[in-house]
Amino acid sequence: MRQKIVAGNWKMNKTYEEALQLASALLSTFEQHDTPLPKIILCPPFPYLADMVNLTKNNSRFSVGAQNCSEHQWGAYTGEVSAPMLKSIGVKYVILGHSERRQYFGEEGPLLAQKVDAALANNLTPIFCCGESLIVREDNKQNDLVKSQVEEALFHLPAEGIKKIVIAYEPVWAIGTGKTATAQQAQEMHAVIRKHIAGRYGKETAESISVLYGGSVNAANAKELFACADVDGGLVGGASLKPNEFVEIIRAGSN
Ligand code: 13P
Repeated sequence: MRQKIVAGNWKMNKTYEEALQLASALLSTFEQHDTPLPKIILCPPFPYLADMVNLTKNNSRFSVGAQNCSEHQWGAYTGEVSAPMLKSIGVKYVILGHSERRQYFGEEGPLLAQKVDAALANNLTPIFCCGESLIVREDNKQNDLVKSQVEEALFHLPAEGIKKIVIAYEPVWAIGTGKTATAQQAQEMHAVIRKHIAGRYGKETAESISVLYGGSVNAANAKELFACADVDGGLVGGASLKPNEFVEIIRAGSN
């Protein structure tokens, strides 16, 4: 269902103690009854997930997401973590197709399609990331690239499947660089993504999907970005590690 979401992707950061402190600071800021606020998703590293689920379980504004999962369910895949494992500890979301997974771990369309299937089969909501590199944007090929990323990983799904996906548009040139896409650039791409989904699944389905923006979101730019018609919140990296800044970003996602 389309809803405002602010998700923090902590990437490979924080010790266990630091992670619990950060989550506790957010929990004490946003009480269960505070309104209106977006859905808040915390995506810490794997070893902290179970305790994070436990810590947040009494505040329904918060959910916990993993940063990746295997395409396999079980078996001899040393070092991997599977969707059934995540489900069994109460994780609700999983980031898939992040540009860092694509760039450093060679993850591409067909594999991502399998990971999406594994997540959905276990009632996990994929936060599917797409986005172009700087070279592609300079070549003005960003729309085609992002459309093909969405197509390769998601268009095999039936309408009921794609309705369960959250999409995050994260231009690679804006990730961790301090260079944010302008609100206009974000809106343009989000509209392209929604239109592409509408072309395959119909307008109603496209309108029901949350499309988040990610890439150097901070307390100063979040409000303008989240105010765009097709931007339903953000997937935040660096700024989600700083409690005060992340609190401001969450507030910027209030309707
Ligand atoms: P930054 O917010 O640090 O640019 O990272 C964005 C991101 O990759 C979130 O998944």
